[in-house]
Amino acid sequence: MNKKILITGGAGFIGSHVIRLFVNKYKDYKIYNLDALTYAGNLENLKDIEDSPNYTFIKGDITDENFIHSIFEEYEFENVIHLAAESHVDRSIKDPLAFVKTNVLGTMNLLNAFKLCWKDNFEGKRFYHISTDEVYGTLGETGLFTEKTSYDPNSPYSASKASSDHFVRAYGETYNLPYVISNCSNNYGPNQFPEKLIPLFINNIINNKPLPVYGDGNYTRDWLYVIDHAVAIDLIFHQGINTETYNIGGFNEWKNIDLVRLLCQQMDVKLGKEKGSSERLITFVKDRPGHDLRYAIDASKVNKKLGWKPSVTFEEGLSKTIDWYLENNDWLNSVTSGEYQSYYLKQYS
Ligand code: NAD
Ligand code: DAU
Repeated sequence: MNKKILITGGAGFIGSHVIRLFVNKYKDYKIYNLDALTYAGNLENLKDIEDSPNYTFIKGDITDENFIHSIFEEYEFENVIHLAAESHVDRSIKDPLAFVKTNVLGTMNLLNAFKLCWKDNFEGKRFYHISTDEVYGTLGETGLFTEKTSYDPNSPYSASKASSDHFVRAYGETYNLPYVISNCSNNYGPNQFPEKLIPLFINNIINNKPLPVYGDGNYTRDWLYVIDHAVAIDLIFHQGINTETYNIGGFNEWKNIDLVRLLCQQMDVKLGKEKGSSERLITFVKDRPGHDLRYAIDASKVNKKLGWKPSVTFEEGLSKTIDWYLENNDWLNSVTSGEYQSYYLKQYS
């Protein structure tokens, strides 16, 4: 088949798991990882596959229009799996424009370069846009997000992702650009930057620091182990239908406070601490503005059409995740030095 696939954001959390899966599984594909290596991107995440003959890293910024056009001219990528994004809601509240630049303009640059490169002759080509369930806004106590749920984003992050989804869809309608979109729930697992709930709290427990739970902690998220997301992306990339959307979720809803308590219990055991000691670090802090109450995905379409389902229970996935962070202390220390410290002070002081 010899597919040339551009994967953007491959040095980040989810992207690195997608790159590893594709590089190891599809030896006859050429996998190109385009990443600007922002604070969230780290080539250490890909150490084990960096010398693979079917893998090439390209350092570059998707907001740089000329650069993006030049690499499409040079490599003629037949397919794109687009993950590069600013991805943290709290940062989007402090600096919304950065999210518009990367998530909206960056996506536009990729769409335009893809379109220009193939001169509207898209036979055998595909643009796969990775998106989030946050575009649907918030649920009340009941109900699930389906592929038919209207977009209703509440944060600058989710508004920028919704906008990029709309542009991808519009390019499909207007120029017949072959696209597929998936909208996934909250991921967790190895290599996640410790600004997101689970790795932040693991790092704080290791360092005996307060666990800042926003508001009353009664917010609900649907958690999915990152490798299960990568497997779903593989299936959708190969078997998804153009112009369709697929919701991906863990069938796994947790209130934040219950999740944090489970995490504390697992950490106490793994660190050999007295039962209840990590829970004593829980501190209720000022709420996130515009905090969405509840996300929960109806993933029955991807389950029925493509046979996908999560492979691990939350307790197993969380335990594996904690083990990874405990075994990769150097990784954790290196990403939490420098810029992280000033981010942390601004966000939590
Ligand atoms: P991440 O923040 O860990 O990684 C983002 C990557 O994109 C980094 O490697 C970064 O260097 C790169 N990047 C950022 N700006 C760039 C730019 N201008 N040019 C090139 N590269 C740039 O993000 P993640 O959590 O791995 O999320 C990946 C994708 O999946 C995003 O599109 C996100 O919206 C989506 N998503 C994430 C989750 C989740 O729970 N993390 C859930 C659903 C969807
Ligand atoms: O739903 C998918 C989305 O999940 C992705 O699109 C985003 O990229 C990803 O960051 C994630 O967004 P959330 O805002 O849900 O994730 P976060 O880990 O930031 O927060 C999870 C919940 O925990 C949320 O209700 C806010 C709360 N929280 C978070 C942090 C960082 C706290 O209570 N305290 C914290 O310090």
